[in-house]
Amino acid sequence: MSTNAQSAADARPYEPAQGPALRRVTAGALKRRKGVSTVPMVTAYDVPFARFAEEAGIDWILVGDSLGNVVLGYDETTPVTMEQMLHHTAAVSRGTSRAHVVADMPFGSYQVSNEEAVRNAIRFVKESGAESVKLEGGVHEADRVRAIARTGIPVVGHIGVTPQTAGLGPGYKKRTHRDRLLEDALAIEAAGAYAIVLEVVDFDIARELTERLSILTVGIGAGPHCDAQVLVMHDLLGMYPHSPPFAKRFAEIGKAATEAFRDYANAVKNGSFPA
Ligand code: KIV
Repeated sequence: MSTNAQSAADARPYEPAQGPALRRVTAGALKRRKGVSTVPMVTAYDVPFARFAEEAGIDWILVGDSLGNVVLGYDETTPVTMEQMLHHTAAVSRGTSRAHVVADMPFGSYQVSNEEAVRNAIRFVKESGAESVKLEGGVHEADRVRAIARTGIPVVGHIGVTPQTAGLGPGYKKRTHRDRLLEDALAIEAAGAYAIVLEVVDFDIARELTERLSILTVGIGAGPHCDAQVLVMHDLLGMYPHSPPFAKRFAEIGKAATEAFRDYANAVKNGSFPA
């Protein structure tokens, strides 16, 4: 693609599919999987990897603000902006036709007021094609979840380790305060979320939350007893050097890419490519 064509494509917002309606998996359909079998979710940030995930049968894709760490090179997710999230969520929507795409609301896009939270959630749906949004926080953010859910936009909560603010104080250690986690989870459920991420939560507490809640629990470093599991794509594919200890590498794509680049560079240097 020429540079001009590329920048025109970058500037183009998400365009809904034309022709026969493509029915995406809904939040309701996902919620009905509770108790049936554990649901796999993965993050993605661009067209090719979103397509690979969907082709592998994964139909719940999170455009996480982990974008900041694994794609944009920040140490934290805190600096990630609405514009960056919209840009990457739109790419994931364009790369999929059936998957339910969840947009992660970045730090600062929902904390100030219900109005701002709703406005930004609507932007995700209208400008990037997201089917639902996710935001971090328990009791204190329940009002935001309620306000967004009232507009008809499905919401995913996120408690336990909450990376947007972890570096500002509470840190990344395993969360073991049962009563606080239970209170947070029940508040997010009552506010109308259809699922809740449990990040680095004590396994027994995660099991108890999964049993007590009617919404889906999505574990990451929270043990095997959740309704769903999520991993950051770069961790499971071996493309990020600082993966957390709970993340399993299912491939070594980083090593394979380095090898391929080395072979290409050598072939150019020694004249064997182009033939
Ligand atoms: O940003 C992200 O990728 C996330 C997952 C780790 C749940 O929030």
